[in-house]
Amino acid sequence: MIIGWCFICVFAVLINKVSLDVRVVGFTGSSVVLPCSSIQHDLKPQDMHVLWRDKDSETIYDLIEGKDSLETQDPRYKNRAQTFPEEYERGNFSIKLSNLTHADEGEFNCFITHSSYSNQETVWLFINESTVETGNQSTEEENQVPETQSNWIKTLLICVCLLTLITSIIALSTVYFKFCRNKSHQAPI
Ligand SMILES: *[C@@H]1O[C@H](CO)[C@@H](O)[C@H](O)[C@H]1NC(C)=O
Ligand SMILES: *[C@@H]1O[C@H](CO)[C@@H](O)[C@H](O)[C@H]1NC(C)=O
Ligand SMILES: *[C@@H]1O[C@H](CO)[C@@H](O)[C@H](O)[C@H]1NC(C)=O
Ligand SMILES: *[C@@H]1O[C@H](CO)[C@@H](O)[C@H](O)[C@H]1NC(C)=O
Repeated sequence: MIIGWCFICVFAVLINKVSLDVRVVGFTGSSVVLPCSSIQHDLKPQDMHVLWRDKDSETIYDLIEGKDSLETQDPRYKNRAQTFPEEYERGNFSIKLSNLTHADEGEFNCFITHSSYSNQETVWLFINESTVETGNQSTEEENQVPETQSNWIKTLLICVCLLTLITSIIALSTVYFKFCRNKSHQAPI
């Protein structure tokens, strides 16, 4: 039981962490801005490295000493990622990702590093079907459980499963020990 409650606490903390991260919704075929800003503002862009990575740790965009460096960019982001150079001075290293597809859904990380400062930001991108193209797909709408609700259902299910598992382990071991004791009483050699 105690272990079960520990698991519940851990899951609650994890889910809180996720919900603190930035969430962005984009539509298939259109574009979206993934935000990333440094908290410190008086840093010179030419002293900074900014690395954008996707859920598979593939490169979307690198800014090395304030300059674009696209040699390592993953082909799937070719001509689809764009920065806002006029915003660098303000510590704003957001990127715009265009031609969105469902494959883009997931976690994006922005790493800002400087000799005296480093920061990581996580953005969660959710892709919704473009409403222009799919006015008639009623099946799509049935699947649209609000994100927070589905998160809670998942947590609840995990907790219930864990509690069931722990309870059954305790029950089984009790039965097993009783069985062993009985056996040794019955067969004294
Ligand atoms: C984005 O999509 C449009 C239409 O499907 C296509 O013409 C264009 O080449 C695509 N651009 C990129 C960079 O993939
Ligand atoms: C950063 O720049 C982008 C593009 O201009 C803008 O949409 C976004 O709001 C800016 N973010 C901040 C924190 O200023
Ligand atoms: C939905 O489908 C009907 C016919 O199947 C069509 O007349 C209507 O324009 C469609 N609506 C949208 C929003 O695409
Ligand atoms: C996107 O879809 C989700 C469910 O998949 C829904 O909860 C949300 O409201 C939608 N967002 C927009 C901006 O349509």
